[in-house]
Order: sequence, then C-alpha cells, then structure tokens
Amino acid sequence: MNLAEKITQLKEEKNAVLLAHYYQYPEIQEIADFVGDSLALSKKASETEADIIVFAGVHFMGETAKLLSPHKKVLIPDMAAGCSLADSCSAADLETLRNEYPDHIVVTYINCSAEVKALSDYVCTSSNAVEVINNIPKNIPIIFAPDKNLGKYLIKETGRDMVLWDGTCVVHEAFSFDKLLDLVQAYPLAEIIAHPESEPHFLKTAHFVGSTAALLKYVQTSDKTEFIIATEVGIIHEMQKKVPHKTLIPAPIDEDNTCACSECAFMKVNTLQKIYDCLLNESPEILIENAVLDQARKPIEAMLEFSF
Ligand code: 13P
Ligand code: SF4
Repeated sequence: MNLAEKITQLKEEKNAVLLAHYYQYPEIQEIADFVGDSLALSKKASETEADIIVFAGVHFMGETAKLLSPHKKVLIPDMAAGCSLADSCSAADLETLRNEYPDHIVVTYINCSAEVKALSDYVCTSSNAVEVINNIPKNIPIIFAPDKNLGKYLIKETGRDMVLWDGTCVVHEAFSFDKLLDLVQAYPLAEIIAHPESEPHFLKTAHFVGSTAALLKYVQTSDKTEFIIATEVGIIHEMQKKVPHKTLIPAPIDEDNTCACSECAFMKVNTLQKIYDCLLNESPEILIENAVLDQARKPIEAMLEFSF
C-alpha cells in the first residue's frame, strides 16, 4: 500500500476525518475528506461526527477545530505550522491595546491564537469579515487585529473607522507590483484577482478581491479565460480542476524573497508522511486550557451564527 492508501485505511479504522486547507500540497488535498477555506473548514469541524480530526493546515486552524469540537481529538501533522499573522499578535499585547480603547469592540481575524480569540468579541474570516463588521452597530468603535491589510480593505468596504493591529501575512506581502505590471503586459486580457490579505495597491489594481473560496467561485463564474491569482499558489490546484480550460497564472513575488513562488512555508511543512505519523501516534494533539477554550469559542460561535 502507498502512503495515501495507508492514511485512508487508518482513517477508517480510527473513525477520523482529514480536513485540508486549499493551500496544502495537491497530494494532501486529493486524499482529504474535505478541502476548503478557513470558514468552510470551521463549519466542517463543528459538524463532524468523527472521533478524530486531522487538520492539514496551520496551528490556528487546528485550534479553531478544537474550540468548536472540544470533546474530539484534534491532531495536526506538525506543530511548527504557524502563521505570521497569528505570531504578530500576542494576547498580552492585544490586552494592552484593548485597555487603551475600553469602549471599542474587538474583532479578530481567525488567523490568531486561541488566547487572542478569548479576548475578542467577534472572530471573522476573509469570507465573512464585511458581514461581521456591518453587523456591529455604527456607534460602536472597533479594534481590528491582526491583519492591517484586511483591516484597510474593510475600512474601505464598510466605511467604518477602525483601530488596526500592525500585522501582515508574509505570503501576501511578498507579491511584486513591478513584476505584476510586466505580467499584465504579457497577458493583457487577464484579470487580476486577489485575496484581501494583499497590500492596498495590489487590491486597488485587482478586478476582483475575495477570500480563497470567493476567488475559486469567481474563476468559475467569470466569462474571462485568463487570470492572475494573487494569493497562495496552492489554490490553483483546485481552481484548475474546476476550470481546466482556463489559464491561471500565479502572481509574481519579489526576487529577494526566499520562497520560489507565493507559497506559505507554514502550510507547506505538512506532508503525507507527517499526516500518517500523526494519525498513527495520535500526536501532536491540539490541547487548549479549559478557561481559554470556553472564552475563545464564544466569538467563533457568534461568527458562525451569521455565516451561511
Ligand atoms: P481563507 O480564509 O481565505 O481560507 O484564508 C486563510 C489564510 O490563511 C489566507 O492566507
Ligand atoms: Fe498565515 Fe499567510 Fe500562511 Fe495564511 S498564507 S497561514 S495568513 S502566513
């Protein structure tokens, strides 16, 4: 049996489900029970009847699954699967900011630790951030953390003034605007589509801005046939399956960036071997203190109430 077959067999034996983010390597996406963006994966984690959830994504996603399914065993293939946004925002620093603005509501992007979620009034993903902000009465001021690019985009989309945390996604900040202009000359008919974690000048140039799932839908519904994709390159696997006849070009990155393309090095620490090992050994496991667990679940449940 090859590794993929061994994982499938082990999943059945242990009544485990494998959830994978669109940024995972294609071979992981191919054997997952469900592939999705942060919002869809959170929903799946809250609904599953499996005893074990193996989360092929990054650490904060595994934590979100645990918050929503506290009685299930949640495993992640590698504890080193972090996120530059989550790492930029410690609970202690967010608490300091919250104390500076005591009348503000705290909305955090799902890309943050469970401790930070526990300090939040609402959590949002890029799929529902506009909805979440619009749901907050206009007279209540907002702190938004940790992604300042998504925050700036939300200020533009909702007309709300917000205090922004100074965090960024290393992957979406690495795109090169100069090289993008060259690419546009080479593909004059291509539409630029971008994730809102990208920098404001990139978003201004984009024909369409949306979450991973929204970008996927856009390439399927648009009558255009060429797209420059400004998000993590892993999504192109699922996109190309949905639109085999269309041309999908990853947006170029700065030369001095160490990655070869717009890959999230954190997402890419996961491999089939690590998935097999973690399911076999039932480790590493996501564990969250009870007090944090109860507090951090509330803003996620508040979010899921108005995300369909
Ligand atoms: P999505 O919410 O679009 O899945 O994005 C998650 C993420 O980490 C983007 O970098
Ligand atoms: Fe975090 Fe960016 Fe990687 Fe998403 S792509 S997990 S935001 S570092």
